[in-house]
Amino acid sequence: MGDVRHFLDLDRLEADTLRDILEIGASYKAGRLNGRPLEGKTLAMIFEKPSTRTRVSFEVGMRQLGGEIVVLEHHDTQLGRGETIGDTARVLSRYVDAILLRTDMHEKLTELASLSGVPVINGLTDRSHPCQLMADVMTLEEQRGSLDGQAVAWCGDLSNVAMSWVHAAVRFGLDLRLACPPDQSLSNAETAWIDENGGRVRVTHDAAEAAEGADCIVTDTWVSMGHEAEAARLDRFTPFRVDEALMARAKPDAIFMHCLPAHRGQEVTAGVIDGPRSVVWDEAENRLHAQKGILTWCLA
Ligand code: CP
Repeated sequence: MGDVRHFLDLDRLEADTLRDILEIGASYKAGRLNGRPLEGKTLAMIFEKPSTRTRVSFEVGMRQLGGEIVVLEHHDTQLGRGETIGDTARVLSRYVDAILLRTDMHEKLTELASLSGVPVINGLTDRSHPCQLMADVMTLEEQRGSLDGQAVAWCGDLSNVAMSWVHAAVRFGLDLRLACPPDQSLSNAETAWIDENGGRVRVTHDAAEAAEGADCIVTDTWVSMGHEAEAARLDRFTPFRVDEALMARAKPDAIFMHCLPAHRGQEVTAGVIDGPRSVVWDEAENRLHAQKGILTWCLA
């Protein structure tokens, strides 16, 4: 199964490969590429957690490329009754040409990939959300030009999306500042990987410092799916809310990004997310385009 093109995480793929995938997605968006290269191919999507954007953008993208989809809701499948991810991988590999999984434990994704004979795509785990980041870097490049050296300030929870920003920063040469509460940080392994790969990522507990002169400020919900028990500890994120004063510290034409869904009044004010510097709708649209790049790279 070594030749199978899995899309599991940005740190597992070379920068050139990620650039190729982005270029395919951008070419579909611009109309330089068209046609139905995935005719006769089927993508199975397993959702163990809710989704709006991931589900719809993959379904529409697959159809636009000529392919078919099968959606498996966790509670409707034998996975929900205890069938192993390994047995599921072996069976689905006999029916479909690629499998997307949205799940809680990242290990389920890697186990699925290790036993699957067809490409596996990470549709979000507790570790990462790489499909989101392909759309995010596409949006950043469209809005701000060359990615190399662009300053991005992440403010809030060091979530799975933040971890994919770390991977993207290293692969695309971004200068990433992570502003988070003092009880959060990168692990030693993550820091070592950043250093080994010449990354420019630093952690601070001061949102204003992170935002100073940034090209982009980005955040995410303070309560990630599956972590609702932590809702009682939201106060520690309050200093990291993206509001007009924080945006004023960034470059005058800096953009605001959010992967959505958003909670206005928590991680971001309505004035920022609905304001002129917000690009969240373009970012959401780019899920479709970037993922057509991912699907084509995995399958065509
Ligand atoms: N950003 C994101 O993954 O959205 P969904 O949870 O709606 O798929």
